[in-house]
Amino acid sequence: MKAYRVTTGEGIDGLAQVDLPDPQPGAGEVLIRVRATSLNYRDLGVARNSRQPVIPLSDGAGEVVAVGSGVTEFATGDHVAGCFFRGWPDGEGRPEYTRHALGGAVDGMLAELVVLPVSAVVHQPAHMTHEEAATLPCAALTAWNGMFEEARLPPGASVLLLGTGGVSIFGLQLAHLAGVRAIVTSSSDEKLERARTLGADAVINYRTTPDWERAVLDLTGGRGVDCVLEVGGAATYAKSMAATRMGGSLVLVGGLGGPAPEGEAVPMPGRVRAARIYVGSRAMFERMNAALALREVHPVIDRVFEFGEAQQAYRYLESQAHLGKVVVRV
Ligand SMILES: NC(=O)c1ccc[n+]([C@@H]2O[C@H](COP(=O)([O-])OP(=O)(O)OC[C@H]3O[C@@H](n4cnc5c(N)ncnc54)[C@H](OP(=O)(O)O)[C@@H]3O)[C@@H](O)[C@H]2O)c1
Repeated sequence: MKAYRVTTGEGIDGLAQVDLPDPQPGAGEVLIRVRATSLNYRDLGVARNSRQPVIPLSDGAGEVVAVGSGVTEFATGDHVAGCFFRGWPDGEGRPEYTRHALGGAVDGMLAELVVLPVSAVVHQPAHMTHEEAATLPCAALTAWNGMFEEARLPPGASVLLLGTGGVSIFGLQLAHLAGVRAIVTSSSDEKLERARTLGADAVINYRTTPDWERAVLDLTGGRGVDCVLEVGGAATYAKSMAATRMGGSLVLVGGLGGPAPEGEAVPMPGRVRAARIYVGSRAMFERMNAALALREVHPVIDRVFEFGEAQQAYRYLESQAHLGKVVVRV
């Protein structure tokens, strides 16, 4: 089979196609013919910093072509997606669950064939294409976990979404689905227009409005939002906190503008609850898929690249020209 491997320390230039033996499923495992994969910000870091040659990308979807002994939940022909972690079935995250993230600690999805244990596979929502389902395992699940498993936002609550990348645009779609008011920021007025068509209730350009946290307070009657999906890290953290209501949730997701401060260094005024999340479990993935299927939500795919164009896909993601997700067809 054909696959890509990240070569240690060479960044995107080191992403190279390789021919590998076809994998075979063992007991409790499923062999997937991957049809599509999607990229996340994290994959740029893996390309730069991986200490081992690894098949990259956590996210992929395709069809089951064989199952190992003892597998009853999946059959040949099923349309499935992989999970971000090889083994976080349910419950709270624990180090033993989150140690084996696909496309980082263990081989990922940028390959024609992938074997995964049943504990790392879910059925695709029936209304989605392989390309759409391939966008779900990391960005969508992170937004779902942050807003509905961690912050438990009820209808009528409000969420602040920073930028228009993968996590934030899924946050916007999920907010729309759940009757949650979405305030979206971006560096681009054009992207903000697009966010409005996707259901944003209010938009703020964080370049032309550097005091965007004040704009958020104005939009919420001085109260602040119920939840921030905090993807900006050092660049946005303090402002995000200032934009959160007393007792609201600051869900620590990412570090697009450098890592957020940790531990004692973090000032926590006004009883804002801060929670660090790491994608989510397979059970959360299934709960999210049920919600997406109910209203037939289609993920926002910005651009699809062919298998031979993986390096171009990485460079496109790196340019931050995208809104939503970048996909590589397999
Ligand atoms: N903890 C977890 O489980 C988890 C899971 C998934 C992702 N993450 C992290 O979350 C972050 C987002 O991931 P992603 O895959 O969604 O990224 P992405 O798709 O690459 O997002 C890129 C977009 O983020 C926006 N952005 C960049 N710098 C910003 C800033 N200083 N302030 C506000 N917006 C900014 C820009 O939007 P505009 O062009 O609209 O300005 C940019 O286009 C990353 O740090 C990633 O590592 C963490």
